[in-house]
Amino acid sequence: MPAPLDCRTALPTLPPALLERLRTADEVLVLTGAGVSAESGIATFREALTGLWARFDPAQLATTEAFVQDPARVWGWYEWRRRQALEAQPNAAHRALAAWAERHGRLRLVTQNVDDLHERAGSRDVIHLHGSLHAPRCFDCARPLASPALPKTGDRLLAPPRCPACGGPARPGVVWFGESLPAEALATAWDLAERCDLCLVIGTSGLVQPAASLPVVARQRGATVVRIDPQPAADFGGDWQLLGAAGAILPALLERL
Ligand code: OAD
Repeated sequence: MPAPLDCRTALPTLPPALLERLRTADEVLVLTGAGVSAESGIATFREALTGLWARFDPAQLATTEAFVQDPARVWGWYEWRRRQALEAQPNAAHRALAAWAERHGRLRLVTQNVDDLHERAGSRDVIHLHGSLHAPRCFDCARPLASPALPKTGDRLLAPPRCPACGGPARPGVVWFGESLPAEALATAWDLAERCDLCLVIGTSGLVQPAASLPVVARQRGATVVRIDPQPAADFGGDWQLLGAAGAILPALLERL
């Protein structure tokens, strides 16, 4: 496997074999994680100091048990994150991926992110493996609910609105720890991993299953796997690692295609 390419200050001369793969790939699967939204000002999860899970306890906020115990704490925390996502703007990485899909036609985007920045940059048919901050549903009867108006204050304790049909509390439409991923989204993503000949993995630590298995499946089926992230992954089992910010690397790559 070639050594990681350091793209942190500028994109180096890229190996012709890599450029050739990027140019000639027929079916492209892009898997994104929190890092793709980092340059929009949205915190990632596992980065030391700044990551959400460095500041908040997932067991208290991202589980069914936590919601049952304290719905206002959990609902309020996700509404705080929804406000941040709504106030953020798509960055150059989101825009480059939308432009790439527009140009390529057979590029599909699978994200672990619960914001809608890919869509707001122009990406279509985004597959959200971990749900969305913008699709609450009833905790009791699962009926989809409208997102309520955000309160004026940024208070993180907020009682969830009630379902008009059964009176149950609204819950965020995200996947919590211990829950299954949305079946259709996962099946589609898995199918894409098995079929693609190029898999781009962008801004994810690759620590959460089953999303982390998608590039592995793609590579087992013969796809070229390219990772874009400022941090090298010691156990990377793919083909190329480009080290740097997605918002700098993706537009530069797109220019060379
Ligand atoms: P992580 O926080 O685990 O990883 C974020 C990755 O983004 C790290 O590898 C960073 O080095 C990288 N990164 C930071 N800035 C970047 C930039 N400008 N460009 C490119 N990469 C950058 O986030 P995820 O892998 O997305 O799940 O986390 C996976 C899941 O764990 C999340 O979807 C969430 C969390 O628990 C649920 O909430 C269900």
